[in-house]
Amino acid sequence: MADSRLLPPQVSPPEFALSPALPHQVGGAEVWALPVLPGDDGPLLGPGADEAAERLGVDLLGALESARATGRAGELVTVPVVSDDVRLVVLVGVGDQSPTDLRRAGASLARALKDRASVVTTVASIAPDEALAAFVVGTMLGSFGFHWRSDGPAERPVGRVVLAGLPDAEERDEALARAIALGGAGWRSRMLASVPSNLKNPGWLAEQAREIGEAAGLEVTVWDEERLAAEGFGGILAVGAGSATPPRLVRMDYTPHGASRRTPTVALVGKGITFDTGGLDIKPPDNMLTMKRDMSGGAAVIATMAALRDVDCPVRVVGLVPMAENAIGGSSMRPGDVIRHYGGRTTEVTNTDAEGRLVMADAMAYAVREVEPDVLVDVATLTGAMKVALGLNTAGYFASHDGLAARFDAASAESGELVWRLPLVDDYRERITSKVADADNSAGSPMAITAAHFLEAFSGDLPWLHLDFASHAEAPADRHEWTQGPTGFGPRLLLAWLGSDDPLEGVV
Ligand code: BES
Ligand code: MN
Ligand code: ZN
Repeated sequence: MADSRLLPPQVSPPEFALSPALPHQVGGAEVWALPVLPGDDGPLLGPGADEAAERLGVDLLGALESARATGRAGELVTVPVVSDDVRLVVLVGVGDQSPTDLRRAGASLARALKDRASVVTTVASIAPDEALAAFVVGTMLGSFGFHWRSDGPAERPVGRVVLAGLPDAEERDEALARAIALGGAGWRSRMLASVPSNLKNPGWLAEQAREIGEAAGLEVTVWDEERLAAEGFGGILAVGAGSATPPRLVRMDYTPHGASRRTPTVALVGKGITFDTGGLDIKPPDNMLTMKRDMSGGAAVIATMAALRDVDCPVRVVGLVPMAENAIGGSSMRPGDVIRHYGGRTTEVTNTDAEGRLVMADAMAYAVREVEPDVLVDVATLTGAMKVALGLNTAGYFASHDGLAARFDAASAESGELVWRLPLVDDYRERITSKVADADNSAGSPMAITAAHFLEAFSGDLPWLHLDFASHAEAPADRHEWTQGPTGFGPRLLLAWLGSDDPLEGVV
């Protein structure tokens, strides 16, 4: 059995502080980072730059010219200095100073500051609260690292980031705290998705959910394989049947302060496949290689649940994560098997690699019957077809309700996690029919849509939204706030939605 004590300590995101002072007035920092704004007659330096140049006796504008800097978002000009005050000045392009550009500036700066102790920066001082938050999120997520080395992490995030030049520093506290909650949730889901599956089996992931959830003040319930069997979770059990490590179901309950009987409830269901071999319909090696992160939907739900209090979510939220390893063995489910889901619906398994919908179906049926939510949202790395449809920087979603889709689009735009709505084409609904069961789990093309139709049957006619981010779960390279590897996509979008003033406006 894998042992959780084997995973070495991981790096932490930088710490953040706010200050009204300018960099040259803040002692003891290793780096000063100053904003560069694009201008019609060449780039301009932002707050604190004149004072820094004077103190250090360097021509920072000249450095920009030598580097042919333009001020576009994330562009960096580094100026080493010999001074008792500071070692390095980094000039950071902030583009149009929108949240998107400041997120990118933050991520780019974070990469350049690996292994530095501290930075004082006025980049956030040019920006309103949303852009300050975006800069913090970008700086956090651009710093992300995961390792399992014998001699410690290859590099460490900058230790401390002072957001300087903010005369109203005290009023920015709330924006900073919210940003740290969002960035921290993205970090956490990326971390969970990065853990190799020789450690991350369903039991381990359920324990993580319990620890994380209880630390955040949530009520956490874990179903083991016996209770799953006793209560009829046939989909979760079938997918987990071939594994040496049995499946789990986790429920996490968040109740807002001052909740009454009229407070609405959102159910969030996340796919928690801790490894997807494909099962007996085995995946080829290239497709299997990254399947430790087939629990990314579950990670997004766990990380989101743990941050709801920090963003003052006004509605009840119940998170459900069915966890199983889709493995190969003598007790694996077979092509042609028929399984009975929670609540009684049956499915013919025509492809064991379409396992995500089998575990999601059980958890959704449970949500509809036992949680009785006002809105149901499910989040999964469900179909490789999403990569073909949308590429690797956009996730797809399906919604049974236009008002819910509108809330989701607004949250996406705010968070920078891109999504695109796809159609639940009526004409394709019949494709999921089976000769022997209520549905076929692998109805074929168009893959993402037939998968959505399969799940739709378990949504109980609720306002329902299905997010399929198989496209956006793995970054091929370091880019903007994404680091190469699992993305931890989802929590920023979900928290922007659930942390808004009225997440269910126009829905209930
Ligand atoms: N976990 C995969 C989907 C996936 C593919 C996620 C690529 C991320 C990257 C899912 O369980 C799967 O195998 N889906 C199959 C379904 C098919 C057999 C109907 C697919 O998309 O090929
Ligand atoms: Mn699969
Ligand atoms: Zn899968």
